[in-house]
Amino acid sequence: MTSFPPEPPLITIERHILQQQGHHPEATGRLTQLLYDIALAAKLIARETTRAGIANILGATTSENVHGETQQKLDVFADRVIFRLNDHTGRVSVMASEEHDELLRIPEHHKPGYYVLIYDPLDGSSNIDVNAPVGTIFAIHRKRTPEDGHGTVQDVLQTGTELVAAAYVIYGSSTMMVYSTGEGVHGFTLDPSIGEFLLSHPNIRIPSPPQYYSVNHAYQRDWGEGVRRYVRWLQALDDPQREPLSHRYIGSMIADVHRNLLRGGVFLYPPDRKHPHGKLRLTYEAQPLAFLCAQAGGYASDGVGDILKLQPRDLHQRVPVFMGNRELVERAEAFIREHGDEWVAQYAAQR
Ligand code: AHG
Ligand code: MN
Ligand code: MN
Repeated sequence: MTSFPPEPPLITIERHILQQQGHHPEATGRLTQLLYDIALAAKLIARETTRAGIANILGATTSENVHGETQQKLDVFADRVIFRLNDHTGRVSVMASEEHDELLRIPEHHKPGYYVLIYDPLDGSSNIDVNAPVGTIFAIHRKRTPEDGHGTVQDVLQTGTELVAAAYVIYGSSTMMVYSTGEGVHGFTLDPSIGEFLLSHPNIRIPSPPQYYSVNHAYQRDWGEGVRRYVRWLQALDDPQREPLSHRYIGSMIADVHRNLLRGGVFLYPPDRKHPHGKLRLTYEAQPLAFLCAQAGGYASDGVGDILKLQPRDLHQRVPVFMGNRELVERAEAFIREHGDEWVAQYAAQR
């Protein structure tokens, strides 16, 4: 009888999600299906991002999004495709996209479902024209309001501790989808020749000692005292005996956070004179990445406390972000507490 030498099993994202749901006999399969739909959207966006140059769809459209930023054509594509794949499945009751001022309602002739889907369709979109990595971020909540109706803003404005699942996709030298349903963080690499996401990074744990810190240093003159001192500490400027962390910042949060998740480190977008609440959005960016970071053994803070515990008040609310290895993020909180930071204090007063 012939037998094959032992090899690691080939696990597609579908098989993995199913196995995870298998741990929950009460699961109805709705979340599994929704995650499939997200993986399909990711494949379609990956197809467009990787042939953006060839297809001549580079460049800005003339429209501006709700934040007054010029939307890139791929933003529009990604935004549309995620909505279209989820507006008729009966699994989603309402959607919210970073690119839209208002909620995205499920069309009246389709049945609204049990989940709430929140997304940043293309994160780091200023990187598209220079061929650097971009990403997509997803957050999934259960609907709070009665089950058979359409979702409302209350369904979107939930704390990060209530997330059912979160995921991001990075379109880099390869396309990866990284997701968590609260049972660890798992990464899949897209094999474009077969169109499947295959498990490549099971059970991601943020390693220690950390290697990197990521921040936009150009804003240094506008930082408050606590943040300024913390970054000097990361650089080991206060102690020549200690090794500094290396600095990496690409301006695409997904790429920066993904690298730090795999190598260890801290990503920060602190508040400063020009960005009194930082830049990143609580529901679209900070909550889902904080959830993934915590599931990988890390921690995410707004400089005062846990981002996951913040109750969002507004769909497009911004929040300061410090995320990565727990000890590095807690150190940021300690520097801010000990030395004060006028911008964090101003933010905290309205927290
Ligand atoms: P988006 O493209 O969705 O608007 O997000 C861009 C964000 C984030 O990805 C990145 O970390 C940050 O903007 C970079 O901002 P700065 O250029 O101010 O550093
Ligand atoms: Mn973004
Ligand atoms: Mn975006």
